[in-house]
Amino acid sequence: MVPKGPVGRKIAMRQACLITLEGGEGAGKSTVARGLQARLAERGVLSIVTREPGGSPKAEAIRGILLSGKVKPYGPFAEAIMFYAARIDHIEKTIRPALARGNWVISDRFADSTRAYQGALGKVDPTLLGSLERVALAGFRPDITLILDVPVEIGLARAAARRGSGATDRFESEGRGFHARLRQAYLEIAEREPDRCIVLDASLPPDDVLEMAWAAVEMRALAGVSNTFADAALQ
Ligand code: TYD
Repeated sequence: MVPKGPVGRKIAMRQACLITLEGGEGAGKSTVARGLQARLAERGVLSIVTREPGGSPKAEAIRGILLSGKVKPYGPFAEAIMFYAARIDHIEKTIRPALARGNWVISDRFADSTRAYQGALGKVDPTLLGSLERVALAGFRPDITLILDVPVEIGLARAAARRGSGATDRFESEGRGFHARLRQAYLEIAEREPDRCIVLDASLPPDDVLEMAWAAVEMRALAGVSNTFADAALQ
């Protein structure tokens, strides 16, 4: 059945998509996730919002361990393996079932976070990380990845404001250089995979960012090409 928009306009939304949101601290991913979900709902498209690390009960348990910093002493490759342990469960228990029901999935972070945080920042050998990704995802990849790009100072200020007097987590407590390299890593991912990734200027007001995000989703969704079960373009 083709869903109808609020004024009865037929929306040629295609099969359920996996949209992932990526970016550094304070980029506004969760706000965009909720906004996209509302826009989809207005058009009669059901979706779930989920997150990584986490998104399923077992993956949420791993999230607690990772963000506590307890895995840090084992090194970034061990952290990458743990993120993938969580991701595998998230895909099997939450993402695939939702897509199979015809629900769109909006995930706050996914595999690009491992590429950026453990790969570019943790300096895990890209070949090793690529192998892990290939084995764990077995060709599964997002249809659309929105990279919320924000200057480091703005992102850190937003993250600090959101946190208030609470403690920083394992990754928020890293220095400014870390966050600048992170931003660069995401821009490089977007450059390598322009068919999947769209970079948005997330320093703009939240309403404008959502508008751009929705335009990107509409454009890609209406283009009619689903990559979710296609072979991943891994190097
Ligand atoms: P979270 O509180 O969800 O932060 P944010 O609001 O920035 O998404 O914490 C997730 C943290 O985990 C974040 O600092 C990024 C990091 N991370 C990785 O290092 N590798 C990964 O694969 C994922 C999914 C997250």
